[in-house]
Amino acid sequence: MNQAVPATPLTARRSGPLTGRVRVPGDKSISLRSLILGAMAVGETRITGMLEGEDAISTANAMKALGAAVERTGERAWRVRGVGVGGFAEPSAPLDFGNSGTGCRLSMGAVAGCPITVTFDGDASLRTRPMRRILDPLELMGARTLEIRDGGRLPAVVRGARDPIPIEYEATVPSAQLKSAVLLAGLAAPGSTTVIEKEATRDHTEKLLKHFGANLRVTTIGTHGRRITLEGQPELEAAPVVVPADPSSAAFPLIAALIVPGSEIVLEGVMLNPLRTGLYTTLREMGASIETVEKRNEGGEDVADLRIKAGPLKAVDVPAERAPSMIDEYPILAVAAAFAEGATRMNGLKELRVKESDRFEAVVAMLRGNGVEIEVEGDDLIVHGKGRAAGGGVVTTHMDHRIAMSALVMGLASEQGVAVDDSAFIATSFTGFTDLMRSLGADFS
Ligand code: S3P
Repeated sequence: MNQAVPATPLTARRSGPLTGRVRVPGDKSISLRSLILGAMAVGETRITGMLEGEDAISTANAMKALGAAVERTGERAWRVRGVGVGGFAEPSAPLDFGNSGTGCRLSMGAVAGCPITVTFDGDASLRTRPMRRILDPLELMGARTLEIRDGGRLPAVVRGARDPIPIEYEATVPSAQLKSAVLLAGLAAPGSTTVIEKEATRDHTEKLLKHFGANLRVTTIGTHGRRITLEGQPELEAAPVVVPADPSSAAFPLIAALIVPGSEIVLEGVMLNPLRTGLYTTLREMGASIETVEKRNEGGEDVADLRIKAGPLKAVDVPAERAPSMIDEYPILAVAAAFAEGATRMNGLKELRVKESDRFEAVVAMLRGNGVEIEVEGDDLIVHGKGRAAGGGVVTTHMDHRIAMSALVMGLASEQGVAVDDSAFIATSFTGFTDLMRSLGADFS
């Protein structure tokens, strides 16, 4: 997303019941990974259901700059002709990942196993995000960080390894981006690369690596941990990818339908990967009416249509262990909690501070600015829900799509509506958000 684009303020007003049947765009994590793995495979990868948001476009452009052929062949249909593991060419200009932390960090891993020098950059939001967590293990594998801004911030110049070294790495933070970067670098290394996670994070990289023919072993450690071992230097072969609807995007119309009285909507084909559905578990504990209909398989993932009906919600305690499976959903859960009755406690939210914005602070400001009481205790947030919100605030979105969408959803059920200073960044992950919400009956202007 180009920062020079003028801000697009938007206001959500209290709306009548939301009704209808919609499908949200393709999953961001799977879309970006199919572009990157497609670029590293031999042959032609056809992607259908692709997210055509800004994050996917910047990642597609980066893959082109590294030598892959990437083209759009139709609506949500893309084709990638890869260069093979270790085959990236040195780009002539810096790679600009815009707002996309996932695109940038996974590409760092992909580049780390090739003997090329690449400058990684992004927009003002991405330039605030920590990159050392990714570059430290990649350096153990032989990559070199030639230049980086203070605090491990972009822009960064990285030289990939001529002879990458396979490692066993215990993840320092629960992060699918970190795990994925190490595994992608491990593709070019001889022997096995292992990542150990204390808490399992989304497994789309592992699933797609297998789908593209890599040899990968996954074992569980205790109740939450995993050990993932990849055999390096596989012949990665292009394979078709069907991208299911993004459960993180579905969360916005879903919670809108729960809190706008009288609503009943159906969300089609939502991915139900258990490492992504912590929010759904939490909402059911809150008493939400979410019916799963027509469970099926799409592109190797369980998907289902979800029928959602508005109704009273009760407060819950969300355990810290659940955070990796709903890490992107806390801002919108905080909105649901405001409309619940009682104190909802969300535990262990440290990672929220390093997302597209400091989401921890952004959530506090969003709720307080709209008359909802929220308390901070260390890394935990406690929302005092009263079944209603006054609204009337203007939320600063800090170039963060999920803060913008959460605030707008809140406005639909708030007495005086809620405005956002800028809705433009919604296009990074959820193309057509305002139109889709309006088609359900949302009053946005
Ligand atoms: C993502 C991982 C998560 C998440 C992000 C997408 C991914 O980040 O917040 O939106 O696709 O791997 P972390 O790995 O930093 O937790």
